[in-house]
Amino acid sequence: MFSDCSDRVPVEIQMRNNEVYLNGVFVPSDRARVSVMDRGFLFGDGVYEVIPSYGGHFLGLDAHLDRLDRSLAAVRLSNPLSRDAWRSVLARLIGPPPAPDQAAYLQVTRGTPPERDHLCVDGVEPTVFALAKPIKPRSPDIASLGVVCITRPDIRWQRCDIKTISLLAAVMMRREAEDAGALEAIMIRDGLVTEGTASNVFVVLGDQVLTPPAGHEILPGITRALALDLARSGEIRFAEQPIPAEMLARADEIWLSSSTRELLPVTRLDDRPVGDGRPGAVWARMDGLYQRYKAQVRDGRI
Ligand SMILES: Cc1ncc(COP(=O)(O)O)c(C=O)c1O
Repeated sequence: MFSDCSDRVPVEIQMRNNEVYLNGVFVPSDRARVSVMDRGFLFGDGVYEVIPSYGGHFLGLDAHLDRLDRSLAAVRLSNPLSRDAWRSVLARLIGPPPAPDQAAYLQVTRGTPPERDHLCVDGVEPTVFALAKPIKPRSPDIASLGVVCITRPDIRWQRCDIKTISLLAAVMMRREAEDAGALEAIMIRDGLVTEGTASNVFVVLGDQVLTPPAGHEILPGITRALALDLARSGEIRFAEQPIPAEMLARADEIWLSSSTRELLPVTRLDDRPVGDGRPGAVWARMDGLYQRYKAQVRDGRI
């Protein structure tokens, strides 16, 4: 007999736990429906955000909503919700403090016109969807072992600064990484490091941290920006500059950053150790600063 504790959980909380937001209403996820004519489904015509929260407090909510504004403007969609409306939708999805650690996912597509055509007719309401899902706690192995990555040619388009839901190239490369026993693929374009399929990349040479500059080639990660701020406050030397692919082979450390994975030390790349093959000292310092910042978010102090 399988156990089900649902009789001990108030119905409202059960509902909340798998409720999603769709076009102005909160509904249980198994009752949320989108038309097959939705342009997100037919064309991948939409943008998204993933925003981490700790203990019921968002980390970097405004920075994520600013980036959403930039993605929407780049694809000529107007933001369907005000900043306050986004705040209250997302707050309801994660629940009040002290809520479990969760990431809010939101996406806006160009909506559901009557016909499939590359050109969308005017006056179509966007489809707005959001949900919350638990953030997996980081395995203790990360700090002692780090993670494995491969490099791959960056086969994506030329506006990687837009956080589009069209993620086929990233999906393909993530599969290749998984098949090679790696967590992530670090991408190379025109001889330069761009980013991971769902992360930004940092390289440490001596005591200096380097990361590729913002531009159309990478997503301007919110964790990347926070890491640079923390490096500044912790007096860690850093520079945003192009990183030739061959620099990866002589890097003392390589890290990845993303909102849900935080800062990850890469200890093996393309079957070779990075530095001495263990998470490095600069990563450990940065991670300390990041964890302190996160604890302040969790306590509602930031
Ligand atoms: C391509 C890409 N680069 C970088 C990132 C990291 O961005 P953030 O730190 O805002 O999560 C992501 C996150 O999903 C991503 O998809």
